[in-house]
Amino acid sequence: MKAAILGFGTVGSGVWKVLTENQDQIQRYLGEPVETAYVLDLRTFGDHPVSRVLTREIDDIVNDPQVDAVIECMGGLHPAYEFVHKALSAGKCVATSNKALVAAYGAELMRTAADHQTDFFFEASVCGGIPVLRTIRHSLAQEKILSVEGVFNGTTNYILSRMEQGLSYDAALAEAQVKGYAERDPEADVEGIDSCRKLAIIASMISGHTVHYEDIPTVGISHVTAAQIDAAKAEGKKIRLIARVTICGHEVDAKVGPEAVAQDHPLAQVKDVYNAVLIHGNMVGDILLQGQGAGSEATASAVVSDVLVALNDRKRKIFEPVCWTDQV
Ligand code: HSE
Repeated sequence: MKAAILGFGTVGSGVWKVLTENQDQIQRYLGEPVETAYVLDLRTFGDHPVSRVLTREIDDIVNDPQVDAVIECMGGLHPAYEFVHKALSAGKCVATSNKALVAAYGAELMRTAADHQTDFFFEASVCGGIPVLRTIRHSLAQEKILSVEGVFNGTTNYILSRMEQGLSYDAALAEAQVKGYAERDPEADVEGIDSCRKLAIIASMISGHTVHYEDIPTVGISHVTAAQIDAAKAEGKKIRLIARVTICGHEVDAKVGPEAVAQDHPLAQVKDVYNAVLIHGNMVGDILLQGQGAGSEATASAVVSDVLVALNDRKRKIFEPVCWTDQV
């Protein structure tokens, strides 16, 4: 089977690596290899093997009937939306790590996928390598999910963890950028917008209708001071950027903001780039998922998990129904 990667940045290059280094695991699952037939990027990459499959034209990919899967790792809304829409309309399955795209156009793109008998998956758009969406969607399909809360952003958690160790805010942010955790515009991380988009995706999934991220009250960490971190520590607490949605009947209550959390609370234990998601179901009780919420390989791993499920669906000609719609 053949795949095309859109964007060869932090996530795209990680996807290339997973598809190259983990072919044995991929073949064991799918029964056949997945070849990276195209990488779309406007840059050049010298003698890196990606140069052999590089293109600048989305039409090379969507018009090639041999391409089964398109993997969107460009980030941003445009042209990511147009390229994903084109790929789905051409019957390709699509996996993306792009939470801005899913938070803004998720319902529409899932509808487009369903109309063209293919899949649109976005596990990596929420909490990097943690399999949170598939857990909610499949493993907890029978549950009434009462609340989901957690640390949804690796960059801010890294900054808060490093500030606890005495580093300044600016130095900690610079480290997070060097490590490839931060968004191109890190304001999305530090002002809580990235967490807010991820929360909107989870809230939409558990409520069944689009929860607009613009409607979620959101505060980031850019005003958190070393003095506040020390004061929380003196009270046996840690400051974490918490995203939380609770469902009560048809009411969806969501919000993002820094909170001082008791040190023995599971969310206070989350350090560095790690994220954690605490799901409360009406039958199963609490489930805690934890893992790397950002970074090339962890995020790419989640993208490739989507690609494998989508390619398996494609072989069996079964496709996932839409998870949520724009209708309330
Ligand atoms: N900038 C994001 C974060 C990347 O730090 O969590 C993963 O979504």
